[in-house]
Amino acid sequence: MKYPIIASAPMADISDSIYGGLNRRFGADVVFREMVSSEAIIRGNVKAMEKCGINAEERPVILQVFGHNPEIIAEAALIIKEKFSPDGIDINMGCPMKKIVVNGAGAALMKNKKLATKIVQEVKKLIKETPLSVKMRLGWETASGLIDFVKAIEKSGADLITIHGRTKAQGYAGAVDFLPIAEVVDNINIPVLANGDIFTAEKAKEVLEITKATGVMIGRGALGNPWVFKQTKELFQEGKIKTQINEKDKIKMLIKHAEFFKQKYGQTGIVRFRKHIGFYLKGFEGARELRSKCLLAKTFTPLELQLKHFFREYLER
Ligand SMILES: Cc1cc2nc3c(=O)[nH]c(=O)nc-3n(C[C@H](O)[C@H](O)[C@H](O)COP(=O)(O)O)c2cc1C
Repeated sequence: MKYPIIASAPMADISDSIYGGLNRRFGADVVFREMVSSEAIIRGNVKAMEKCGINAEERPVILQVFGHNPEIIAEAALIIKEKFSPDGIDINMGCPMKKIVVNGAGAALMKNKKLATKIVQEVKKLIKETPLSVKMRLGWETASGLIDFVKAIEKSGADLITIHGRTKAQGYAGAVDFLPIAEVVDNINIPVLANGDIFTAEKAKEVLEITKATGVMIGRGALGNPWVFKQTKELFQEGKIKTQINEKDKIKMLIKHAEFFKQKYGQTGIVRFRKHIGFYLKGFEGARELRSKCLLAKTFTPLELQLKHFFREYLER
């Protein structure tokens, strides 16, 4: 893998195998898939298992688990390893959602170093040579315990960590602070991916310069905009951005993404696909009206017709 690494972020209900495949094709070096519940995995829950399915074109791909019980997470990680052979397994220690943290999972683990390290140790013990990573935030309320926390995670057997430069208390609001990530990079020997509010290639470069991290992870910046990976790669490797996109590229991509979705989930997949429609159709002339029309589609066929019509009538003028 070429350095610096450009990673596609895990996003619940978004980063499925289709999203992973697309982002890899657009230049992401590695994709992290949406979190799955460790408890659901050990129960053999069909939906959770389906979420773990991997397409060859996505690799290297990392599957992420969440939970709070070391034995259960470790067992789930082993099941995932044996059934799906991901290129790595990630443990979620950053999710701020109430339903996750009330159970002591996600970002709540940053308040409980002992449990967090036990989880890493137990998982590593079972998955052995399979790479293990941990995704976290700066801390629960402040970043004051971060260095201590990451050192303990490293010592417990993690092979890589990703840090979203916000605390749990910040949620998704307020400024991302990359300086604590730079401090982490100085204090541990495993690779670090820096994450948070990277919406452009230029921002990715700036974050790398500040943090000296091994790479960057891009989440929301790639929604409806997989080109951000390509542009970031160009800037990193060639010193300038060559890829420029317009409305036509976005509509074509939306149609292609919808086709993949229809193939995988069938016509009813349109419900889950709606959020992608919103992401692609943002910010250009006529987009708002087109979006409203597309969101009314109950199957992929009228959506496709609507988009093709817009393409011919407006964009080919
Ligand atoms: C809709 C959504 C779902 C997310 N789901 C996950 C998840 O399943 N696991 C995880 O570790 N982080 C999850 N995150 C956090 C992102 O991976 C990322 O850390 C965060 O969005 C900040 O990066 P960004 O500014 O590049 O989006 C999610 C974020 C969003 C917006």
